[in-house]
Amino acid sequence: MSVEGKKRIITTQRLLEMKQRGEKIAMLTAYDYTSAKIIDEAGIDIILVGDSAANVMAGHETTLPITLDQMIYHAQSVVKAVKNPMVVVDMPFGAYQGNSKQAVFSAIRIMKESEADAVKVEGGSEILESVSRILSTGIPVMGHLGLTPQSIHKFGTYSVRAKEEAEANKLIEDALALEDAGCFALVLEKIPATLGTKVAEALKIPVIGIGAGNGVDGQVLVMHDMLGLTQEFSPRFLRRYHNLHDEMLKAVKNYISDIRSREFPNDQEQY
Ligand code: KIV
Repeated sequence: MSVEGKKRIITTQRLLEMKQRGEKIAMLTAYDYTSAKIIDEAGIDIILVGDSAANVMAGHETTLPITLDQMIYHAQSVVKAVKNPMVVVDMPFGAYQGNSKQAVFSAIRIMKESEADAVKVEGGSEILESVSRILSTGIPVMGHLGLTPQSIHKFGTYSVRAKEEAEANKLIEDALALEDAGCFALVLEKIPATLGTKVAEALKIPVIGIGAGNGVDGQVLVMHDMLGLTQEFSPRFLRRYHNLHDEMLKAVKNYISDIRSREFPNDQEQY
């Protein structure tokens, strides 16, 4: 539900219709009230409260340390801000992989305490039981395959996934299994574009890519990366739409300089 108590416009059904009509889906991350409000105003379809908050908000090297409580805190801030987009919340590492009972408990906490619309989980066959149990409670689930950052210690690298036939075949099987289980959408991260297209064509549910080419049903980026707030991360799939790092640096430098030169506050800026 939105701030005004109205149902948000983008639903699982609406996303399915968008795919059927060939309309591309735009998804972006947000972790706080102010950014979520701006992104909603711009007309985004889905806001992902990603566990990438562990990196861009908390400065962790991986997404693993972020907790369920912290994800719920971010989700609450985002939900308060938005009217139209669907809000999907990442289930953090350790909140669903252990067993399916724990997965249901975590998903219910996210939905109850944040009033978000859906949860996202990383992985295929190995987490299918958890996915099915969450879905059985009526909570919509978005899958995530390809590069799954919560498994970084298993992969050992953030390089492109599923380049080899065996891994590509497993990804397709996992994608079909997630759709069969009842997931409403799927994120594909950092895989060959041809494979992204193949999966999107094979599935009825929307497939949202991040580094999965142009043949999928929509795209997602991390907001801090696409706005150029972060500088150290430059994968090929990342298009920077602004250089907010430099803009912010310049603004803060000007502020410091104005204070030091006694130029701020001026006569109009005081009581
Ligand atoms: O946590 C996140 O931001 C994500 C996106 C990269 C898809 O999972």
